[in-house]
Amino acid sequence: MHVRKYRKREHVENYLRAEHQGDPLFGDIFLPHISLPEVNIGEIDTTTRYLGREVPFPLMINAMTGGTDFTEDINADLSELARRFALPMAVGSETIALEDPSAEESFRIVRRNIGEAGIVLANLNGNLRVEDARRAVDLIDADALQIHLNPAQELAMSEGDRDFRGITERIARVTEALEVPVMVKEVGFGMDASVIESLYAIGVRYVDISGFGGTNFFEVEDMRCSTVDMTDLYDWGIPTAYALYNAVALQKEGLHITASGGIRSSLDVVKALVIGADMVGISGEILKYLIHGGLDYASVYLEDLLYKVRVLMVLVGAKDIQELREVPWRATGRLLELMR
Ligand code: FNR
Repeated sequence: MHVRKYRKREHVENYLRAEHQGDPLFGDIFLPHISLPEVNIGEIDTTTRYLGREVPFPLMINAMTGGTDFTEDINADLSELARRFALPMAVGSETIALEDPSAEESFRIVRRNIGEAGIVLANLNGNLRVEDARRAVDLIDADALQIHLNPAQELAMSEGDRDFRGITERIARVTEALEVPVMVKEVGFGMDASVIESLYAIGVRYVDISGFGGTNFFEVEDMRCSTVDMTDLYDWGIPTAYALYNAVALQKEGLHITASGGIRSSLDVVKALVIGADMVGISGEILKYLIHGGLDYASVYLEDLLYKVRVLMVLVGAKDIQELREVPWRATGRLLELMR
């Protein structure tokens, strides 16, 4: 447990020191500029439905942290941001709180700040039993449970899991038993279409493809423990734009797709929505603004981002999120090569 506590802080610190900038391939997406927009920016409608409720933007603060005093402060600030902008927020892995009651408060604070009206997602890894899932959800009165798939990260950790057998069955049991929806997510290496098919077959209807191009857990873990040097694998993973394109192309009925991994700007958010994401998640970039500049600095970043999403909607001639999905986009470069 001690190791887990240090790990949480190291993840945040190492993320901030990480240097390897991946490419989610959003730069390979071309959107048309419409000079004749019959649109009033004041009437742009960015509302969308998420987990059965209306939210003002298809943007969420994705899973990061919790479990220690240091991370409790971060969760307090992240949930304050979520409250200000009415964004859904996922907490970081709650395993630590299942093992140590003193860690519970660092997660509870998120629900308290966001209030009953907001959307909060619980988070656990794939080693979970149904009773763990229930406890993680109950602790923060969660609207859904995220289960993260992170085999690459585990294999890079000296203390990480080595045997992943039985994970599909465990997820199936939890998905079947839980009263709230289960969302299965990656942590920045991307989710292949075949994985989404397997998850869909066991009843999962929410996925976050969390692709390559942002937070890089090979690098983050490398900075913690150097038993094996992972430097030559820093480019491993499915770029977010490509993973998202493949997920949307499956056209699975009732499948809700979240796009995360390397979302930094309003243009990334808009491009993810144009490709067909139902929700867009940001983790690392918000953390950077928060730690380097504080709560108000991070708040200005989000305010600017959300304003520029509306600017871009005018410039592609889309009055609402549905029209954004109909914008004809073109792929170039490496993304186009992969799509062929
Ligand atoms: C994460 N992420 C993560 N995901 C998860 O499901 N449970 C977790 O506990 C964590 N912990 C965590 C800590 C830190 C410091 C970071 C930066 C990220 C992964 C996160 O939710 C997301 O999938 C990836 O970070 C990719 O998105 P970004 O960071 O590129 O926007």
